[in-house]
Amino acid sequence: SNDLKHLIVEFKGDKSNIGLIRLNRPKVLNALCDDLMNEVNSVLDRFEKDPSVNCVILTGSDKVFAAGADIKEMKNLDFKQVYKGSFLSHWSRIAKFKKPIIAAVNGFALGGGCELAMMCDIIYAGSKAQFGQPEIILGTIPGAGGTQRLTKTIGKYKTMELVLSGRRMSAQDAEKAGLVCKVFPPEELLNEAIKLAETIASLSPMVVQMAKESINASLELSLNEGLHFEKLLFHQTFATEDRKEGMAAFVEKRPPKFTDQ
Ligand code: CAA
Repeated sequence: SNDLKHLIVEFKGDKSNIGLIRLNRPKVLNALCDDLMNEVNSVLDRFEKDPSVNCVILTGSDKVFAAGADIKEMKNLDFKQVYKGSFLSHWSRIAKFKKPIIAAVNGFALGGGCELAMMCDIIYAGSKAQFGQPEIILGTIPGAGGTQRLTKTIGKYKTMELVLSGRRMSAQDAEKAGLVCKVFPPEELLNEAIKLAETIASLSPMVVQMAKESINASLELSLNEGLHFEKLLFHQTFATEDRKEGMAAFVEKRPPKFTDQ
Protein backbone atom coordinates (compact mmCIF):
# COMPACT_ATOMS: atom_id res chain seq x y z
CA SER A 1 0.00 0.00 0.00
CA ASN A 2 2.76 2.45 -0.99
CA ASP A 3 0.22 4.47 -2.91
CA LEU A 4 -1.29 5.80 0.35
CA LYS A 5 -0.32 9.34 1.29
CA HIS A 6 -2.24 9.85 4.50
CA LEU A 7 -2.61 6.36 5.95
CA ILE A 8 -0.43 3.54 7.16
CA VAL A 9 -1.96 0.11 6.65
CA GLU A 10 -0.66 -2.94 8.48
CA PHE A 11 -1.80 -6.46 9.33
CA LYS A 12 -1.85 -7.41 13.00
CA GLY A 13 -2.56 -10.39 15.25
CA ASP A 14 -1.03 -13.86 15.45
CA LYS A 15 -2.86 -14.81 12.25
CA SER A 16 -2.32 -11.44 10.54
CA ASN A 17 -6.05 -11.28 9.99
CA ILE A 18 -6.55 -7.87 11.60
CA GLY A 19 -6.39 -4.94 9.20
CA LEU A 20 -5.01 -1.84 10.93
CA ILE A 21 -5.59 1.60 9.44
CA ARG A 22 -3.57 4.42 11.00
CA LEU A 23 -4.55 7.98 10.14
CA ASN A 24 -1.26 9.69 9.39
CA ARG A 25 -1.24 13.44 8.72
CA PRO A 26 0.74 14.38 11.84
CA LYS A 27 1.45 18.00 10.89
CA VAL A 28 -2.25 18.86 10.90
CA LEU A 29 -3.33 16.50 13.69
CA ASN A 30 -4.84 14.03 11.22
CA ALA A 31 -7.28 16.58 9.81
CA LEU A 32 -9.58 14.57 7.57
CA CYS A 33 -9.08 16.04 4.12
CA ASP A 34 -10.91 14.67 1.10
CA ASP A 35 -7.91 12.66 -0.09
CA LEU A 36 -7.51 11.01 3.30
CA MET A 37 -11.16 9.95 3.40
CA ASN A 38 -10.94 8.64 -0.18
CA GLU A 39 -7.98 6.56 0.92
CA VAL A 40 -9.88 5.21 3.93
CA ASN A 41 -12.73 4.25 1.62
CA SER A 42 -10.48 2.47 -0.85
CA VAL A 43 -8.75 0.52 1.93
CA LEU A 44 -12.15 -0.49 3.32
CA ASP A 45 -13.23 -1.64 -0.15
CA ARG A 46 -10.10 -3.79 -0.30
CA PHE A 47 -10.54 -5.17 3.24
CA GLU A 48 -14.18 -5.99 2.58
CA LYS A 49 -13.23 -8.16 -0.41
CA ASP A 50 -10.18 -9.74 1.24
CA PRO A 51 -11.16 -13.02 2.95
CA SER A 52 -7.95 -12.94 5.03
CA VAL A 53 -9.14 -9.78 6.87
CA ASN A 54 -11.63 -10.66 9.60
CA CYS A 55 -11.63 -7.51 11.71
CA VAL A 56 -10.39 -3.94 11.26
CA ILE A 57 -8.96 -1.36 13.65
CA LEU A 58 -8.98 2.36 12.89
CA THR A 59 -6.54 4.44 14.91
CA GLY A 60 -4.50 7.64 14.84
CA SER A 61 -1.32 8.55 16.68
CA ASP A 62 -0.56 8.72 20.40
CA LYS A 63 -1.48 12.41 20.40
CA VAL A 64 -4.49 12.55 18.16
CA PHE A 65 -7.10 10.31 16.60
CA ALA A 66 -8.30 13.11 14.33
CA ALA A 67 -8.91 16.84 14.84
CA GLY A 68 -11.88 16.83 12.46
CA ALA A 69 -12.59 17.75 8.88
CA ASP A 70 -9.84 19.80 7.26
CA ILE A 71 -10.76 23.38 8.11
CA LYS A 72 -8.33 24.87 5.58
CA GLU A 73 -9.90 22.77 2.84
CA MET A 74 -13.44 23.79 3.88
CA LYS A 75 -12.81 27.45 4.58
CA ASN A 76 -13.56 28.88 1.13
CA LEU A 77 -16.37 26.57 0.06
CA ASP A 78 -19.78 28.14 -0.56
CA PHE A 79 -23.26 26.68 -0.28
CA LYS A 80 -23.59 25.78 -3.97
CA GLN A 81 -20.29 23.91 -3.90
CA VAL A 82 -21.03 21.88 -0.80
CA TYR A 83 -24.63 21.18 -1.83
CA LYS A 84 -23.98 20.24 -5.46
CA GLY A 85 -20.82 18.35 -4.53
CA SER A 86 -22.59 16.54 -1.66
CA PHE A 87 -19.74 17.60 0.61
CA LEU A 88 -18.76 14.86 3.10
CA SER A 89 -21.31 12.38 1.77
CA HIS A 90 -18.55 9.89 0.91
CA TRP A 91 -17.65 9.72 4.61
CA SER A 92 -20.56 7.37 5.25
CA ARG A 93 -18.76 4.49 3.49
CA ILE A 94 -17.27 3.47 6.80
CA ALA A 95 -20.69 3.15 8.45
CA LYS A 96 -21.67 0.72 5.68
CA PHE A 97 -18.57 -1.44 6.11
CA LYS A 98 -19.76 -5.01 6.68
CA LYS A 99 -16.91 -6.43 8.74
CA PRO A 100 -16.37 -5.49 12.38
CA ILE A 101 -14.36 -2.29 12.86
CA ILE A 102 -12.93 -1.00 16.13
CA ALA A 103 -11.86 2.62 16.74
CA ALA A 104 -8.81 2.89 19.02
CA VAL A 105 -8.72 6.53 20.16
CA ASN A 106 -5.73 8.22 21.79
CA GLY A 107 -5.76 12.00 22.14
CA PHE A 108 -8.25 14.24 20.34
CA ALA A 109 -11.30 12.89 18.54
CA LEU A 110 -12.92 16.17 17.58
CA GLY A 111 -15.61 17.08 15.07
CA GLY A 112 -15.27 14.72 12.14
CA GLY A 113 -12.77 12.74 14.24
CA CYS A 114 -15.42 11.97 16.82
CA GLU A 115 -17.92 11.26 14.04
CA LEU A 116 -15.49 8.88 12.36
CA ALA A 117 -15.00 6.98 15.62
CA MET A 118 -18.80 6.78 16.00
CA MET A 119 -19.12 5.21 12.54
CA CYS A 120 -17.06 2.29 13.88
CA ASP A 121 -18.65 -0.57 15.85
CA ILE A 122 -16.71 -0.34 19.10
CA ILE A 123 -14.70 2.53 20.60
CA TYR A 124 -11.73 1.80 22.87
CA ALA A 125 -9.94 4.86 24.26
CA GLY A 126 -6.69 5.80 25.92
CA SER A 127 -7.10 7.52 29.28
CA LYS A 128 -6.06 10.90 27.81
CA ALA A 129 -8.48 10.80 24.88
CA GLN A 130 -10.88 13.70 24.46
CA PHE A 131 -14.08 13.69 22.47
CA GLY A 132 -15.98 16.69 21.21
CA GLN A 133 -18.00 18.33 18.47
CA PRO A 134 -16.50 21.84 18.36
CA GLU A 135 -18.03 22.81 14.99
CA ILE A 136 -20.19 25.46 16.66
CA ILE A 137 -17.03 27.43 17.46
CA LEU A 138 -16.33 27.55 13.70
CA GLY A 139 -19.85 28.78 12.99
CA THR A 140 -21.12 25.48 11.65
CA ILE A 141 -22.62 22.27 13.02
CA PRO A 142 -21.53 18.62 12.90
CA GLY A 143 -22.01 17.31 9.37
CA ALA A 144 -21.04 13.65 9.51
CA GLY A 145 -23.43 12.29 12.12
CA GLY A 146 -22.47 14.21 15.25
CA THR A 147 -25.96 15.41 16.08
CA GLN A 148 -27.49 12.04 15.22
CA ARG A 149 -25.14 9.25 16.33
CA LEU A 150 -24.08 11.08 19.47
CA THR A 151 -27.71 11.71 20.48
CA LYS A 152 -28.62 8.08 19.88
CA THR A 153 -25.58 7.05 21.95
CA ILE A 154 -25.32 9.40 24.93
CA GLY A 155 -28.78 10.98 24.83
CA LYS A 156 -30.16 14.41 24.05
CA TYR A 157 -28.93 16.36 27.06
CA LYS A 158 -25.26 15.38 27.06
CA THR A 159 -25.21 15.85 23.29
CA MET A 160 -26.74 19.31 23.61
CA GLU A 161 -24.06 20.31 26.11
CA LEU A 162 -21.24 19.16 23.83
CA VAL A 163 -22.61 20.37 20.50
CA LEU A 164 -23.99 23.74 21.67
CA SER A 165 -20.90 24.71 23.67
CA GLY A 166 -18.12 23.00 21.73
CA ARG A 167 -16.77 21.65 25.03
CA ARG A 168 -14.84 18.41 25.15
CA MET A 169 -15.56 15.23 27.06
CA SER A 170 -12.84 13.12 28.70
CA ALA A 171 -12.34 9.44 27.94
CA GLN A 172 -13.63 8.65 31.45
CA ASP A 173 -16.83 10.67 30.96
CA ALA A 174 -17.25 9.21 27.48
CA GLU A 175 -17.05 5.75 29.01
CA LYS A 176 -19.64 6.63 31.66
CA ALA A 177 -21.91 8.04 28.95
CA GLY A 178 -21.67 4.85 26.89
CA LEU A 179 -19.73 6.28 23.95
CA VAL A 180 -16.47 4.57 24.87
CA CYS A 181 -16.54 0.89 25.66
CA LYS A 182 -13.34 0.69 27.73
CA VAL A 183 -10.49 3.02 28.77
CA PHE A 184 -6.85 1.86 28.91
CA PRO A 185 -3.47 3.43 29.65
CA PRO A 186 -2.52 5.11 26.34
CA GLU A 187 0.40 2.79 25.62
CA GLU A 188 -1.76 -0.32 26.08
CA LEU A 189 -4.67 0.86 23.94
CA LEU A 190 -3.63 -0.57 20.59
CA ASN A 191 -2.68 -3.97 22.04
CA GLU A 192 -6.03 -4.19 23.81
CA ALA A 193 -7.81 -3.32 20.59
CA ILE A 194 -5.81 -6.01 18.77
CA LYS A 195 -6.70 -8.57 21.46
CA LEU A 196 -10.41 -7.78 21.08
CA ALA A 197 -10.06 -7.88 17.28
CA GLU A 198 -8.37 -11.29 17.49
CA THR A 199 -11.19 -12.67 19.61
CA ILE A 200 -13.78 -11.41 17.13
CA ALA A 201 -11.66 -12.60 14.19
CA SER A 202 -11.52 -16.14 15.63
CA LEU A 203 -15.29 -16.50 15.33
CA SER A 204 -17.42 -17.11 12.26
CA PRO A 205 -16.92 -14.09 9.98
CA MET A 206 -20.31 -14.65 8.42
CA VAL A 207 -22.19 -14.91 11.69
CA VAL A 208 -20.27 -11.94 13.17
CA GLN A 209 -21.44 -9.95 10.16
CA MET A 210 -25.03 -11.01 10.79
CA ALA A 211 -24.79 -9.94 14.44
CA LYS A 212 -23.41 -6.53 13.40
CA GLU A 213 -26.17 -6.11 10.83
CA SER A 214 -28.84 -6.93 13.39
CA ILE A 215 -27.47 -4.51 16.02
CA ASN A 216 -27.24 -1.72 13.46
CA ALA A 217 -30.82 -2.39 12.34
CA SER A 218 -31.98 -1.66 15.89
CA LEU A 219 -31.05 2.01 15.34
CA GLU A 220 -33.44 2.25 12.40
CA LEU A 221 -36.37 0.00 13.25
CA SER A 222 -39.19 -0.08 15.78
CA LEU A 223 -38.84 -2.74 18.49
CA ASN A 224 -41.22 -5.16 16.75
CA GLU A 225 -39.62 -4.68 13.34
CA GLY A 226 -36.20 -5.04 14.91
CA LEU A 227 -37.14 -8.21 16.75
CA HIS A 228 -38.55 -9.62 13.51
CA PHE A 229 -35.36 -8.70 11.61
CA GLU A 230 -33.26 -10.30 14.35
CA LYS A 231 -35.34 -13.48 14.26
CA LEU A 232 -34.93 -13.79 10.47
CA LEU A 233 -31.14 -13.45 10.76
CA PHE A 234 -31.08 -15.82 13.75
CA HIS A 235 -32.98 -18.39 11.69
CA GLN A 236 -30.58 -17.77 8.79
CA THR A 237 -27.60 -18.72 10.95
CA PHE A 238 -29.13 -22.22 10.84
CA ALA A 239 -28.32 -22.27 7.11
CA THR A 240 -24.60 -21.86 7.80
CA GLU A 241 -21.97 -24.55 8.29
CA ASP A 242 -20.51 -22.46 11.10
CA ARG A 243 -23.66 -22.69 13.23
CA LYS A 244 -23.61 -26.49 12.91
CA GLU A 245 -19.88 -26.54 13.67
CA GLY A 246 -20.17 -24.19 16.66
CA MET A 247 -22.86 -26.27 18.36
CA ALA A 248 -21.24 -29.60 17.44
CA ALA A 249 -17.89 -28.41 18.86
CA PHE A 250 -19.58 -27.37 22.11
CA VAL A 251 -21.24 -30.75 22.54
CA GLU A 252 -18.04 -32.62 21.58
CA LYS A 253 -16.02 -30.44 24.00
CA ARG A 254 -13.51 -29.26 21.36
CA PRO A 255 -12.68 -25.88 19.84
CA PRO A 256 -14.81 -24.96 16.80
CA LYS A 257 -13.31 -24.62 13.34
CA PHE A 258 -15.28 -22.07 11.37
CA THR A 259 -15.18 -22.27 7.58
CA ASP A 260 -18.00 -20.14 6.13
CA GLN A 261 -16.84 -17.06 4.23
N1 CAA B 1 -8.19 21.19 9.99
C1 CAA B 1 -7.06 21.68 9.46
N2 CAA B 1 -5.93 21.88 10.19
C2 CAA B 1 -5.97 21.57 11.50
C3 CAA B 1 -7.13 21.07 12.11
C4 CAA B 1 -8.28 20.88 11.30
N3 CAA B 1 -9.43 20.35 11.78
N4 CAA B 1 -6.86 20.87 13.43
C5 CAA B 1 -5.59 21.24 13.62
N5 CAA B 1 -5.03 21.65 12.47
C6 CAA B 1 -3.67 22.15 12.23
C7 CAA B 1 -3.49 23.55 12.81
O1 CAA B 1 -3.96 24.52 11.90
C8 CAA B 1 -1.98 23.59 12.99
O2 CAA B 1 -1.41 23.83 11.71
P1 CAA B 1 -0.22 24.93 11.57
O3 CAA B 1 0.94 24.32 12.33
O4 CAA B 1 0.00 24.99 10.09
O5 CAA B 1 -0.73 26.16 12.20
C9 CAA B 1 -1.64 22.16 13.38
O6 CAA B 1 -2.76 21.36 12.96
C10 CAA B 1 -1.50 21.98 14.88
O7 CAA B 1 -2.67 22.46 15.50
P2 CAA B 1 -2.67 23.43 16.79
O8 CAA B 1 -1.48 24.32 16.74
O9 CAA B 1 -4.02 24.07 16.86
O10 CAA B 1 -2.47 22.34 17.95
P3 CAA B 1 -2.91 22.46 19.50
O11 CAA B 1 -2.28 21.28 20.15
O12 CAA B 1 -2.64 23.83 20.00
O13 CAA B 1 -4.51 22.28 19.50
C11 CAA B 1 -6.61 21.24 18.86
C12 CAA B 1 -5.09 21.06 19.17
C13 CAA B 1 -7.35 21.62 20.11
C14 CAA B 1 -7.12 19.88 18.34
C15 CAA B 1 -6.77 22.34 17.80
O14 CAA B 1 -5.91 22.07 16.71
C16 CAA B 1 -8.16 22.44 17.25
O15 CAA B 1 -9.02 23.00 17.89
N6 CAA B 1 -8.41 21.94 16.01
C17 CAA B 1 -9.67 22.09 15.34
C18 CAA B 1 -10.72 21.18 15.92
C19 CAA B 1 -12.05 21.38 15.22
O16 CAA B 1 -12.60 22.46 15.20
N7 CAA B 1 -12.57 20.32 14.59
C20 CAA B 1 -13.82 20.35 13.89
C21 CAA B 1 -13.57 20.58 12.43
S1 CAA B 1 -15.09 20.83 11.54
C22 CAA B 1 -15.70 19.29 11.22
O17 CAA B 1 -15.13 18.30 11.61
C23 CAA B 1 -16.99 19.25 10.44
C24 CAA B 1 -17.69 17.92 10.49
O18 CAA B 1 -18.62 17.73 11.23
C25 CAA B 1 -17.28 16.85 9.61
